[in-house]
Amino acid sequence: MPISKLKAVEVGIPASESVVNLLSLSPLQVNSPCVTRFRLRLLMANAPMRLLTLNPSDTLPLTDQIVDGLRKRITQRALRAGMRLPSIRHFAKTHQVSAATVVQAYDRLVEDGYLVPRRGSGFYVARNSRGRKLRSRIDLAPAEDTLWILRSALQQQHPVIRAGAGWLPPSWLDGKLIVQGVSRAVGKDGSHLLEYGEPQGFSPLRKQLVHKLAKSGIKTDIDQIITTHGVSQAIDLVCRYFIHPGDVVLVDDPGYYVTFGYLKTLGATIVGVPRTPDGPDLSALESLVTTHQPKLFFTMSVLHNPTGTDMNQATAHRVLQLAEKRNFIIVEDDAYGDLHPGVATRLSTLDQLQRVVYVSGFSKTVSPDLRSGFLAARHDLVQDLLDLKLLS
Ligand SMILES: Cc1ncc(COP(=O)(O)O)c(C=O)c1O
Repeated sequence: MPISKLKAVEVGIPASESVVNLLSLSPLQVNSPCVTRFRLRLLMANAPMRLLTLNPSDTLPLTDQIVDGLRKRITQRALRAGMRLPSIRHFAKTHQVSAATVVQAYDRLVEDGYLVPRRGSGFYVARNSRGRKLRSRIDLAPAEDTLWILRSALQQQHPVIRAGAGWLPPSWLDGKLIVQGVSRAVGKDGSHLLEYGEPQGFSPLRKQLVHKLAKSGIKTDIDQIITTHGVSQAIDLVCRYFIHPGDVVLVDDPGYYVTFGYLKTLGATIVGVPRTPDGPDLSALESLVTTHQPKLFFTMSVLHNPTGTDMNQATAHRVLQLAEKRNFIIVEDDAYGDLHPGVATRLSTLDQLQRVVYVSGFSKTVSPDLRSGFLAARHDLVQDLLDLKLLS
C-alpha cells in the first residue's frame, strides 16, 4: 500500500480493521518510521476507547481487571516500551470506572515494574518490563513491526476476511472430510504413531506430490521432495540454509510480510521488487539485481499474496534469464496455487528446479492447522536441506 494511502486508511476505520489494511505493506514500508508513527497514532488515538473491556459484574475486582489487562497488553507488546498511557481521568471516563480505581491499578503496575510515572507528564510503559534479557543469537527487534501486525490480527475478536495475512475463512474448507481423513490416517491401532516417521516425509505422500507436481509440468522424483510443517518450515529451511547476515534478498513488493520479518531476524537486507499485474516489474528487477547482487528472490507466480495476480510467461522467462545471468536462486512460493481456477505459469515448470526452489502446501485447501507443506528442489540441494531438517 503506498504510504500516501495510509492517511485514507486512518480516516474513520476502527483500529482493529485498520490492522487488516496494513497487512499488505511493502518490505520497506513495514518498518518505515511513517508506519511506526502511524501505528502509534492509531494506538494512541484509539487507546482510551479500546484499551480494555471491563466487566463490572465479574467477580474479579475492577482494579485487578485493569492490572491484568494492561499487564497482558504490555507483555504481548501491544503496548510498547515508552508509550504513554491515557491519563487517569481519561482512562476513568472512557472505561466508566472511578479515578481511584485507575490510580490503584496504575500504582500496582508501577510497583510491578510495568509502568513508570513521570512527574507532570503521566504514566509510561517501562522499557525493561520483561525482566533481564538474556543474550540471544536471534535479534527479533527488526521483525517487531511484522510481529505487531501478526499479534494484532490474531487478537481480533470478530475477524473480517484476513486474506492479506493468509487466513482464509474456515467455511471455505471441508471440516467433515478433514476429520474423516485424519481418523483414517491415524488408523485403528495407531502403532505407526509410536515411531519417528521418515525424515524426508511420508513416502506415499511424497509419491502423490510427484504426481501433483507433474500435473503442473514440474518433473520430479520422490527424492526431490521434503515434507514440511506448513509452507513456513519450507521457507525457514531455505532461509537458514542460504542466508548470511548482510545478504541481499529480493522480495515481491508488496508481498508476504511474514517472510520479510523472518528474513530481517536473519540479518538479511531485503529489497522490494515492485509487483505489476503480470509479475515482478522487469526493468526494476534488472536494475536491482545489477546493483545488489542478491542471493535469493522470493516471489509468487500464481495468486500472489496480496494482489491475487499471476506471473505471465514472458515475465517468468525473463526472471529466469536474470537469475541465470546474475546467479541467484528463486524461491517460488506457491501457497495458493491450488486455488487457481485455470492454467497458470510457474517458474518451476519453466526451469525444472534448476534455479528455483518450489515451496507449497495445503493450509489453504485442506487445513491450516494440520501444518502440511513441502518443498521441491534439485537433488544436491534437497540433500542439504534434509540434513538441516534433521538437525532442527
Ligand atoms: C504467501 C504465503 N506463503 C506462505 C504462507 C505460510 O503457509 P503455511 O501456513 O502453510 O505455513 C502463507 C500463509 O498464509 C502465505 O500467504
